[in-house]
Amino acid sequence: MRKKIFFKGLLSISVFNFFLILPLFASENYQLDRAQNLANDQNALQRGAKLYINYCLGCHSANAVRFNTLQEIGFSKETIEKNLLFVGSNINDLMKIPSQAEDAKNWFGIIPPDLSTATRVRSPDWIYTFLRKYYLDDKSTHGFNNQLYQNTSMPNVFWQLQGIQKLQGDELILSKTGILNPQEFDQTVAELTAYINWMSDPKKSERHKIGYLVIFFMLIITLLTYLLQKEFWKDIK
Ligand code: HEC
Repeated sequence: MRKKIFFKGLLSISVFNFFLILPLFASENYQLDRAQNLANDQNALQRGAKLYINYCLGCHSANAVRFNTLQEIGFSKETIEKNLLFVGSNINDLMKIPSQAEDAKNWFGIIPPDLSTATRVRSPDWIYTFLRKYYLDDKSTHGFNNQLYQNTSMPNVFWQLQGIQKLQGDELILSKTGILNPQEFDQTVAELTAYINWMSDPKKSERHKIGYLVIFFMLIITLLTYLLQKEFWKDIK
């Protein structure tokens, strides 16, 4: 009886969860581009971090990360203090937005979300695609629309680097070239995406290393136990 109730409970929770996650799939019918995996490329992560600080931190905080955590992707304390901090902030500070940007809600009608766990909410592929799919749109207040996130209130921060895209049918065509060529721009956005993904779990690569060590250790112990067992049973048989 108890078992029956337990399974019924389990079933209704599963059905409930299924309906909860359904809208997530429904909104994801846009074909996302694959972001190159650069999680183990420290130079790429460093370039991504600089880009984040220059292009995103003006509006998006990353409150789960402190500036001094950037040492884990190879920046020295001096570089962080000299080149990466805002005026007046300290290396132990969280990556907050500058105080004048706190009016953002008035400008955009919505507070730009904190991005330290962005890749857990949206996938890295989503962010990589989103940042590359802006196109010119006279009807939008900031001049651009986004093919993945229609009518987003986030302005097109990369128009100078990417150039300007126009929508022709379903296709985006580069109508004015930017500072970077398309391959360079894709690489730049992939590096930024890798950095944002790193922020969501700065200890991930360390954890993986420890994981491999533990597995190696367990294998050795298993082997030793096996040899020991053989040795003990030799005399008994
Ligand atoms: C001028 C302010 C501003 C800048 C600079 C800016 N954003 Fe945004 N961003 C916004 C606003 C506002 C939104 C909310 C858009 C909406 O929901 O319509 C947003 C939304 C987003 C989202 C979607 C979050 C979600 O889950 O809905 C992502 C991802 C994002 N921004 C990434 C970036 C990155 C990466 C950069 C730097 C290259 C950046 N943004 C620079 C204002 C900004």
